[in-house]
Amino acid sequence: MSTQIFLMLVFVFLPPFLYLLLLGQRKKPNHEAAKSRLPPGPRKLPLIGNLHQLGGMLYRSLQRLSAEYGPLMFLQLGLIPTLIVSSADMAREIFKTHDRVFSGRPVFYAAKRLSYNLSSVSFAPYGDYWREVRKIVILELLSAKRVQSFQSLRDEEVAHMLDSVSLSSGPVNLSELTLSLANNIVCRAAFGKKYDGGGSDSKSGVYQTLRETQELVGGFYIAEFFPWMGWLNKFNGQEARVEKNFRQLDEFYEKVIEEHRSPKPGNDEDLVDVLLRLQKDSNQEIPLHIDQIKAVLTDMFIAGTDTSSATIVWIMSELIRNPSVMQRVQVEVRETVKGKQQVEESDLQKLIYLKSIVKEGFRLHPPVPLLLPRETTESCTIGGFHIPANTRVFFNAKSIGEDPKYWKNPKEFRPERFLLDSSVDFKGQHFELLPFGAGRRGCPGIQFATQLIELALANLLHRFDWEMADAVRREELDMEEAVGLTMHKKVPLLLMAKPPTF
Ligand code: HEM
Ligand SMILES: *[C@@H]1O[C@H](CO)[C@@H](O)[C@H](O)[C@H]1NC(C)=O
Ligand SMILES: *[C@@H]1O[C@H](CO)[C@@H](O)[C@H](O)[C@H]1NC(C)=O
Repeated sequence: MSTQIFLMLVFVFLPPFLYLLLLGQRKKPNHEAAKSRLPPGPRKLPLIGNLHQLGGMLYRSLQRLSAEYGPLMFLQLGLIPTLIVSSADMAREIFKTHDRVFSGRPVFYAAKRLSYNLSSVSFAPYGDYWREVRKIVILELLSAKRVQSFQSLRDEEVAHMLDSVSLSSGPVNLSELTLSLANNIVCRAAFGKKYDGGGSDSKSGVYQTLRETQELVGGFYIAEFFPWMGWLNKFNGQEARVEKNFRQLDEFYEKVIEEHRSPKPGNDEDLVDVLLRLQKDSNQEIPLHIDQIKAVLTDMFIAGTDTSSATIVWIMSELIRNPSVMQRVQVEVRETVKGKQQVEESDLQKLIYLKSIVKEGFRLHPPVPLLLPRETTESCTIGGFHIPANTRVFFNAKSIGEDPKYWKNPKEFRPERFLLDSSVDFKGQHFELLPFGAGRRGCPGIQFATQLIELALANLLHRFDWEMADAVRREELDMEEAVGLTMHKKVPLLLMAKPPTF
């Protein structure tokens, strides 16, 4: 693997060089910082700090270390001071008292380029520009009303998905099925139509381009831990890959925006229409540049598709492993929509058990287990410890969802726990359940995502019975996780769909 070669190169050639740089940079003793204590953490090696203690499965390594050093842990990753937050109480303290200080985002090389110099909502530095685009996203692009306006396209895409399951004779690849569904829904909502003929598997086309973007943005490269080592990307092919992807992405947006210049029949706006309308609106505080529009569109796609699909896959996997839960939710869905071909969105509010299952799925399998990294904009004190400015921050949502102070038998998939206390939700008010983050930088796509996920699940459970595709016993279904920013099931989920038995 090229990463390993790079690690070797880094270890062999960089230390002497960096050491010299560091000598030159050594700071004068800072009396403020000397008085205050940093949170505990493992001992660090020179230069690489604690990098050697991390495995490929970042959230797991961090979980293991946090178990030893506590819910606020301080690491040095390469040259980057890093704080790991892994309990509900610490998350609460941060979001309730220091949300603003924790609302920065670190800059990553690929993310910077592919977000048109940090013009996306997700990567914009905390400040006026971010505030303005975030407002547009919340009020215009992902508002409850806008999400509602996409109801009929969700219905159509779900129907399309159910048809493709009915027609398939062999096992159904749910990993693929749900990714196409999410791609198609987000693509139609954002761009007004499908641009890829509908399949997620085609090797060319816009889904492939956007997937590559996602991968590049999500990948974390060794150079990112040594801020002035950016030039490494020139030599390991990363820069060429990013540039190629950027060109493809930009070409696609040019085409889409061109197509949206002339008004179309009907008054259903897609997100490109909305953004182009706002661009002409003189009431906007910051007039949107076309590059900023492109960056925001990229956000919708890379934040919304594989996260939603991963959620559905994890939940279907848990249902297969827990037949009594599967039975109970199917009874609920089928009795509620008796006589209808398809579950409609108006039915969803009655599906209390299904909603508990979705919460339990988010608790045990948060699709973005470390959320998106944050960066402190100034220094502050948390839990009695000093947190310096410009510290990178990871919230371990997976650990938080298993915090024994809040969750009984945290490792077990038990949706019933939410029937006892159904007020606990994942919208950022309950700090023991944070799959979407919280605070002013929390995910603005919760509504969009939950409509998609609940509707898809309800329909898959309504229309079919599900069985293992191979001889493995249900309880032994492989639940291994793949490495990445989004936590996918490593082995794709293949199940047999049968006509319903009741
Ligand atoms: C199951 C689905 C989803 C999950 C688990 C998820 C999770 C997250 C998380 C953890 C963050 C970082 C929050 C933080 O730093 O506290 C985030 C940010 C964001 N998400 Fe989502 N998301 C999902 C779906 C969506 C959808 C469907 C959209 C849009 C269509 C979306 C758009 C965004 C944007 C724009 C941000 C950046 C917000 C900012 O930095 O101000 N997400 N999401
Ligand atoms: C980003 O900024 C750099 C330097 O300021 C500039 O050369 C480049 O053209 C910008 N790229 C985009 C896509 O705005
Ligand atoms: C299932 O779908 C995933 C995601 O598209 C794909 O990577 C995998 O190869 C597929 N597996 C099978 C057996 O079709």
